[in-house]
Amino acid sequence: MPPMNATELRDKFIAFFITKDHKQIAGKSLLPENDPSVLFTTAGMHPLVPYLLGEPHPAGARLCNYQKCIRTGDIDEVGDASHLTCFEMLGNWSLGDYFKKESIAWSWEFLTDKKWLGLDPRRISVTVFAGDADVPRDEESAGIWKSLGLPEGRIAYLGEEDNWWKVGPTGPCGPDTEIFYWIGPGIPADASNKRNDPDNWLEIWNNVFMEFNRVDEKTLVKLPKQNVDTGMGLERTATALQGKDSAFQTEVFAPIIAAIEAVSGCRYGTDAEKDRSVRIVADHLRSAVFILGDERGVTPSNVGAGYVLRRLIRRAVRHGRKLGIDKAFLEPLARAVVDTFKGPYPELGTNEAKVYAEFNKEETKFLETLQKGEHEFEKLAPNLLKNPKKVIPGRIAFRLYDTYGFPLELTEELAAERGLAVNKEEFEEAFKKHQELSRAGSEAVFKGGLADQSEMTVRYHTATHLLQAALKRVLGDHVAQKGSNITAERMRFDFTHPAAMTPEEVKNVEDIVNEQIKRDLPVTMEMMKLDEAKAKGATALFGEKYEETVKVYSVGDFSKEVCGGPHVEHTGALGRFKITKEQSSSAGVRRIRAVLE
Ligand code: SER
Repeated sequence: MPPMNATELRDKFIAFFITKDHKQIAGKSLLPENDPSVLFTTAGMHPLVPYLLGEPHPAGARLCNYQKCIRTGDIDEVGDASHLTCFEMLGNWSLGDYFKKESIAWSWEFLTDKKWLGLDPRRISVTVFAGDADVPRDEESAGIWKSLGLPEGRIAYLGEEDNWWKVGPTGPCGPDTEIFYWIGPGIPADASNKRNDPDNWLEIWNNVFMEFNRVDEKTLVKLPKQNVDTGMGLERTATALQGKDSAFQTEVFAPIIAAIEAVSGCRYGTDAEKDRSVRIVADHLRSAVFILGDERGVTPSNVGAGYVLRRLIRRAVRHGRKLGIDKAFLEPLARAVVDTFKGPYPELGTNEAKVYAEFNKEETKFLETLQKGEHEFEKLAPNLLKNPKKVIPGRIAFRLYDTYGFPLELTEELAAERGLAVNKEEFEEAFKKHQELSRAGSEAVFKGGLADQSEMTVRYHTATHLLQAALKRVLGDHVAQKGSNITAERMRFDFTHPAAMTPEEVKNVEDIVNEQIKRDLPVTMEMMKLDEAKAKGATALFGEKYEETVKVYSVGDFSKEVCGGPHVEHTGALGRFKITKEQSSSAGVRRIRAVLE
């Protein structure tokens, strides 16, 4: 019998929980509704948070499903054999119905019973919560595992970092028990578990016993009901079932890797460096197809989810070039992904034409950027080669980046081909100096504007921070403050941007600012050393005139600026923000006039 593939695994999981009286519910969009705290659905339980908090679910108290998820936190780390930015999670939930005993027993049955997955029980180990000041060690879960036949040595007791699951700093949470499968050689000794051999134990399933709600740092309360929330990684479990050591070797990735091999002429598994690029292209393409093809899909842009999408596509293109592909190549790869997944995710089929069109558009745009940058580099090359130290000054790399959008990484690549290095520190310096210079001169205006510290001007001042952060999100990080002027009646804000804003962009900026006002974000101030402020990502304002210790104003999680203040305490005090005019101020500088109503 051939090993079980991902499609069978998905079907079996649902079928199993239906035999345990669960209702299958539909997976949700990757773009969460009503949750500004995350860009993407990152776990199967994400759309279920309101129900875990006590809201009754229309389908009942026992639910199961499969859910597409995106996690891009560590996008630059992707490329090794285990990290995926897009994955499927299989999940079952009890909303105040069964608890630890059934949950653990069913996981064991599903994993080991020959009727279901039939995995070798000798290759399974688990972790349980070791306890802390608030919640005792989870002896109950450990006892249930032992009663099922798991040897004591296969149970590791770990602390909060490993075995306490939470959605965020606040919200539903609880201890969990995580299930691991041995992918190393032979059968491990009975005393082997994640704690003493983390590399060979692949985490495949996580059962969270969600019976708490974290209200704030100090307050942990019991939820009205004891819930179970489990998540099984589809790609990882398929890897375990097929005796592979990476999801990229399973049939989940086979069609897209074959498409990459066809267009590049490379063979996966023959060259470590190229293999990494193949995995990056395969992973990013799959994520980008799922995001573009989502029922609430977004398109590449410089803001939020659209920005993540753009980075995924551009990084795939760059790694395609590393594989020797020098033309547009994304569409056939995207087709392979759509064909593989449109069964379980019909929206990919429905949105197919849009997916390909967007890939082509973004790819063409990026290839043009790259060509211009390369052309410029070629022009500079003869001179650069004369440098006795064989180092390209950072300001030149910065100019390529600033003027042509040419990524530093590519300048480094072209340089390396000619035996040159790039002075990265100088690049960073030029980058920072540029940010500061573009604000120089704004001080006088700013101070003038703040001379009248009436309540209204304080409000406009906070609105200026929101506007600047919103502009960066909508238009891109090149947006830098050129000047600001505030009166009790209106604000004016000048900033670098090469083109007139479209009516959509203006509306988008307005909406984002108003959303932050509606969230009633707290405005807080911290004193810190300038270096620390910069390290924390604060936008710096007054150029070289900084004191050693500066004030950093944060508007919730939305903006952070070095600034003298004063500001309102909560954004809710601002009223409605409206852009009354967007116009040119000077070459490459736009001016916005806005009012608070
Ligand atoms: N919330 C848990 C996880 O994401 C189980 O669904 O791992």
